[in-house]
Amino acid sequence: MDKERIVTAMSIKEDEDQSLRPQTLDQYIGQDDIKEMLSVYIQAALKRKEALDHILLYGPPGLGKTTLAQIIANELGVNIKVTSGPAIERSGDLAAVLSSLNPGDVLFIDEIHRLPRFVEEVLYAAMEDYVLDIVIGKDHESRSIRIDLPPFTLIGATTRFGDLSAPLRDRFGVVLRLSYYTNDDLKKIVERTSKVYQNDIDPDAVISLAKRSRGTPRIANRLFRRVRDFAEIIGDGKITENITNHALAKLGIDHNGLDHTDYRYLRNIVEKFGGGPVGIETLSATISEEVTTIEDVYEPYLLQEGYIKRTARGRVATEKTYQSLGIKYYKGLFDDES
Ligand code: ADE
Repeated sequence: MDKERIVTAMSIKEDEDQSLRPQTLDQYIGQDDIKEMLSVYIQAALKRKEALDHILLYGPPGLGKTTLAQIIANELGVNIKVTSGPAIERSGDLAAVLSSLNPGDVLFIDEIHRLPRFVEEVLYAAMEDYVLDIVIGKDHESRSIRIDLPPFTLIGATTRFGDLSAPLRDRFGVVLRLSYYTNDDLKKIVERTSKVYQNDIDPDAVISLAKRSRGTPRIANRLFRRVRDFAEIIGDGKITENITNHALAKLGIDHNGLDHTDYRYLRNIVEKFGGGPVGIETLSATISEEVTTIEDVYEPYLLQEGYIKRTARGRVATEKTYQSLGIKYYKGLFDDES
C-alpha cells in the first residue's frame, strides 16, 4: 500500500541518488545542534588519532541518517561499510563484516533495532573491547575463540529508539536524535537540489515544495524530481509555481503535504470511531496496515503537525483534522488527555 505513496518517508530506489548527498558537514543543511556536536567529536578523534566513539542516530525516516554516517566517515578520512539489522541474520555475517574493517573505519548498521538478539550479543564485546567472541563446533566439543578487531566506529541508525535493548543503547557513547526540518532548511535543500540538477526554479515554487515536504528532505527531493518531469514536458524546463501546483495536485498532495493515505487514516478515526480514542491495533485492522508502518511512517508527521494525539486510550483526531476534512468539530471527552 505504502509503495504507491509519493510522500512516504520510506526509501525507494531513486532516493539513493548519490549526486544529491552532501559530502561534508558544511554542505549538510539543518540539524545544527547535531552538526555542531559531531564536528567537535570528529576533530577530537582526529587529534587523538583514535577511533570516534560509537554513535546512535535516531529519528523518523528520510531525515538523513545514512547521509550523516557517510559524512562522518568522509570527514574522518576512513572507509564506511554499510549494512542493516535485517541483513545480518547470523553471527557469522557480523563477524565477516567486522573482520573486514581497517583501523578507524565506520560500520553503519541501519535499522539496528532489527538485529537478531544473538547477533546483538556478539556486537557488545566488539563495541566495548574491539574483540570478536565466536563459538566454533557443536555441543560438548564447542569452544569459544577470541579474535582481535581493529578499533572502529559503529554508527547505528533507528527509527525506533524504544525498541533498542538497554545493553545495546548503553554502548553508544554518542546518542543523537534527528528532528523534522524547518521550512527554511527545506527551502535551502530544494534550492541546492535545483542547482545539482541544473533546473531553474522560481522562489514561489521553492516555498510550495518546501511546505509540502513534511519536514523531510527525502520527500522534498522526490517531489522535486516529479515536478521537474512536469516542467520538462508541459513547460520549458523551468519550475514555476503554477507547474508545481499542477503537478502536486495530479499527485494527490494537498497544500499541507497530506495525501490520500493520510486522509484515509484520518477519515477512519473520525468516521468509524467518532474521532477516537481508537487503539492502534484496531486502526491497523481497519485500514489493513501493520502497526509498525502506522507508527513509523503514517503517524510521526501527523502527530508533529497536531492532526492526531496519542492518549492512553488510543489515537484521537484533533480539531485540525476535522477542519481539514470539512467536518464539524465537537470538543471531545478526551481532548485534554495527553
Ligand atoms: N539532501 C538531503 N538531505 C540534505 C541535507 N540535510 N542537507 C543537504 N542536502 C540534503
